[in-house]
Amino acid sequence: MISRYSKFLTFSALLLITTGCRNKTDDYPYHSWSHYNGDKMGSKYSALDQINKQNVKDLAVNWKFVTGDLKDSRRSVIECNPLIVQDRIYLTSPNVSVIALNARNGSEIWRYDPDPGTTIRGTNRGLAYWEENDSSRIFFAKGIFLYCLDASDGRLISSFGVDGKVNLKEGLNRDEDNRGKSTTPGVIFNNLYVLGSTVGEGPGPAAPGYIRAFNVRTGAIEWTFHTIPLPGEPGYETWPAEAWEKAGGANSWGGITMDEARGVIYCGTGSAAYDHWGGDRIGKNLYANCVLALDAATGEKIWHYQVVHHDIWDYDIPCAPNLVQVKKDGKLVDAIAQPTKMGHLFVLDRDTGEPIFPIEEIPVEQSDIPREETWPTQPFPPKSLRYSQQGFFEADITDLTEEATAYVKDLTKNMEFGSIFRPPNRKEALILPQFNGGTDWGGGAYDPLNRMLYINNSNEAEWISMFPASEVEQITQHDLGLRIYQARCSICHGRNQQSGMASAPSFANLLQIAPTRTSDEIKTTLENGKGLMPKFSQLNSVEKEAIISFLNNTGKEIQLDARQIGLTFTNNIPWIATGHHEIKDDRGYPINKRPWGALSAIDLDSGKIDWQVPLGTYVELEALGYDPTGTFNLGGPLVTAGGLVFIGATMDERFRAFDKDTGEMLWEFQLDAGAYATPATFEVDGKQFVIIAAGGGGIPGTPPGDSYYCFAL
Ligand code: HEC
Repeated sequence: MISRYSKFLTFSALLLITTGCRNKTDDYPYHSWSHYNGDKMGSKYSALDQINKQNVKDLAVNWKFVTGDLKDSRRSVIECNPLIVQDRIYLTSPNVSVIALNARNGSEIWRYDPDPGTTIRGTNRGLAYWEENDSSRIFFAKGIFLYCLDASDGRLISSFGVDGKVNLKEGLNRDEDNRGKSTTPGVIFNNLYVLGSTVGEGPGPAAPGYIRAFNVRTGAIEWTFHTIPLPGEPGYETWPAEAWEKAGGANSWGGITMDEARGVIYCGTGSAAYDHWGGDRIGKNLYANCVLALDAATGEKIWHYQVVHHDIWDYDIPCAPNLVQVKKDGKLVDAIAQPTKMGHLFVLDRDTGEPIFPIEEIPVEQSDIPREETWPTQPFPPKSLRYSQQGFFEADITDLTEEATAYVKDLTKNMEFGSIFRPPNRKEALILPQFNGGTDWGGGAYDPLNRMLYINNSNEAEWISMFPASEVEQITQHDLGLRIYQARCSICHGRNQQSGMASAPSFANLLQIAPTRTSDEIKTTLENGKGLMPKFSQLNSVEKEAIISFLNNTGKEIQLDARQIGLTFTNNIPWIATGHHEIKDDRGYPINKRPWGALSAIDLDSGKIDWQVPLGTYVELEALGYDPTGTFNLGGPLVTAGGLVFIGATMDERFRAFDKDTGEMLWEFQLDAGAYATPATFEVDGKQFVIIAAGGGGIPGTPPGDSYYCFAL
């Protein structure tokens, strides 16, 4: 079948070859960057080729823009993929001001701060641009509001919503306060701005993650797709009868892509709330963890494909699928490719949602938690499309040094190992891929000329266990203190000799410090924070006493009413996870075998990984003679007709270019803070630029920043 889309693609590919003309409108695809991730298909592909394999070695910083908005150095992070329209760049700062720059030199044209004079942070991955006749608008979300700005001067469009903004909490069928926000921009179809949401996934009340279309002129909700179906809607039968009024989550927080010619939007959804216990939502839980194809004009469902049944891992679909083509039996088939936190790539027919490569339902381990009913099987794509490490067994323990191996063996001797879908149980267990993936919100970059998907992933284990949050429980102060320590403190103080944060005393040190302090001194540290330690003012006196007795290894048996300690939640969730926990070797490196982060090129015609290379390095290990080990990474790639894959994302704070045909690294640049964001490329006055945000801070212990780097030859 030759669809309208593939004709269009062939036509544009032809144009690329036959003309050297550089136009910046949507009529000339892959030359502009006026949508999040480049185009509405989420391609992260550019036809610009001035910067290429031969000359990328000469790429240098052309200008750097400092947002001046780093109000709290512990909480920097810029995840924004900027938009470029004509000669203007639109981007966001760490506290989510929107800023317009001159693309030639980075000089500021205007800025809009939704919360002036405050340090209220938000997560913002980008913006949406809409124009009609001679007016143009920028849509962006910060926290619970969707804002609409005049792109020419950055002023609120007062006729949109209430004085220029729409409260995203409204229209979600829930009264609780834990309702919709938005972090990733949506997509514009005619006069509709289609947007997903971020809702609570914890054990407290959560809103349902409906997908909604807002009128671009008025802000009115034009349609709503119920990701948790209402009575009478298909999928309702995959939940308990009352779930539609109570259950939350199943939200699409990772963005939306669109086939404009078909008039269809595609997105992925996250797990249902609560993330780790589903005893009150027995069933498959459609449309949680689904790839969805919806009619862009009406919100009606065309097809769905569920990639995790009854999720109790937090394996949200973290990014929108790429719109791709696959050559099958000599014919081009329109498809979508969905990367996942599991590191499983799902390639599905764009019209029907049918798998292009066979997907097998494989029996998985079952939960031992009361009232939980794990789904018996999970869908697996062929092995050749599983691009992350899968599961964690003894053979996967690090071989970095003999000491590391011995240390990790000892550290994990009382923990359980298991395959990828091992359910969170009472015993501490190792999970790999962890809950940030695999792939996270960065997603993949698709090259329409060679039908290759470029995708980065992390390989790091975490551990998790479940404990009962029953209303009244016999527990020692010490054991309660242990739970709180595991849930709130171990991320920085670690579990043994070694701490998770360089400047924090290790657990072993804390046990030495605690007896030298009075109870009041420790309480003061918890209430006010100390140095880089944040305050824990939300802990009540029962919890504080418990932590103190835990650190002093004392404590009496107490009758615990869980309501006193903030561990029960109004949804009466009886089992709570200790949290997602980092676990490291004797020197702070991941406990599994290398690579700890990778970049892959996946050939969509054959359904096989063409090349995979480590992504990121630890400088001190390289100095000892190790090859790059790869690091945990956050943010996506960019692929260009110049034959290059650009990517930041790594914990070494570097920005790199790889040869897209071989995976060979051709260029790298040391930034002053981590680029946990996706790069963009554009052309002004005949010159190609590549831009990336370097906000750092996203990963504990890494330096903060608030700049955008713009490179050119
Ligand atoms: C974000 C990282 C972080 C987290 C989370 C954290 N701490 Fe700390 N903690 C630190 C740092 C850094 C220090 C060193 C502070 C200094 O002396 O400047 C510290 C110091 C301490 C000290 C020693 C204070 C002293 O008197 O010298 C105690 C006790 C302590 N933390 C307990 C806790 C407990 C209990 C929790 C969990 C409720 C916790 N910490 C969570 C980072 C953290």
